[in-house]
Amino acid sequence: MSLLHPMVNIAVKAARRAGRVITQASDNLDILTVRHKSLNDLVSEVDKAAEDAIISTLKSAYPDHAILAEESGATGQSEYVWVIDPLDGTTNFLHGFPQYCVSIGLVHKGIISHGVIYDPTRNDLYTATRGRGAYLNDKRLRVSKRIKLIDALLGTGFPFRMFEHMDAYVGILADFMGKTAGVRRPGAAALDLAAVAAGRFDGFFEIGLAPWDMAAGCLMITEAGGLVGDLQGNEHHMESGNIVAASPKIFSQMLQVIEPHLTAALRTR
Ligand code: IPD
Ligand code: CA
Ligand code: CA
Repeated sequence: MSLLHPMVNIAVKAARRAGRVITQASDNLDILTVRHKSLNDLVSEVDKAAEDAIISTLKSAYPDHAILAEESGATGQSEYVWVIDPLDGTTNFLHGFPQYCVSIGLVHKGIISHGVIYDPTRNDLYTATRGRGAYLNDKRLRVSKRIKLIDALLGTGFPFRMFEHMDAYVGILADFMGKTAGVRRPGAAALDLAAVAAGRFDGFFEIGLAPWDMAAGCLMITEAGGLVGDLQGNEHHMESGNIVAASPKIFSQMLQVIEPHLTAALRTR
């Protein structure tokens, strides 16, 4: 791995700590207390314990930085904001389906400057720093070189909470099924984005993500030579939660397929 930026080093320490909390709990899934935050939105004591481990690690190094974390919300005021998903893929985790991760991004003056995604099931560590590239363990990441959408493998996530977009989503999905090599729904958005950065997915799209799902993964993709935008390709994905991410060639072809399905609510211009 290239020499890590000190802030990435701290984020890696925090992510690995959370990973240990998650892995220990994965041996005792049947005794976990699980609560529904809202329809189809589960949270367990593991999400909270992992988040506490991350925040205490970050805070001991950077007591003045602000935090935006999925389970505890926004705290502090600073030009540095750590954006944290302590366990992305909670439903997978609770079912013992090994596709989940920890995601930590650092936003400085509104720009994502560092990202760490840790997959404890494979001990895979993804890191990125703006202008310095993205890495999986010690391997530099590049988005895929595939040129045609028909050869592309896409990732996606279902809009299982925002049912108002279901028709548009299903139309887009059906179109992609006939126009790509395949579509997968693994269930952890941060890992899906990391897969685009690593060239495993040629592209990814989802409606209704949260900042903590996207912050670290988006930086990984741009640092690996890919593009990220909303469903029209504009840079409003962090605010809208609607995202398309891909290599440059596949990105434009994905937008063309999506365009006819967009409702007014899904447009930004
Ligand atoms: C979820 C996962 C899933 C995506 C959802 C997210 P969580 O995060 O990333 O893949 O489809 O939109 O909310 O709740 O497991 O942290
Ligand atoms: Ca998440
Ligand atoms: Ca989560």
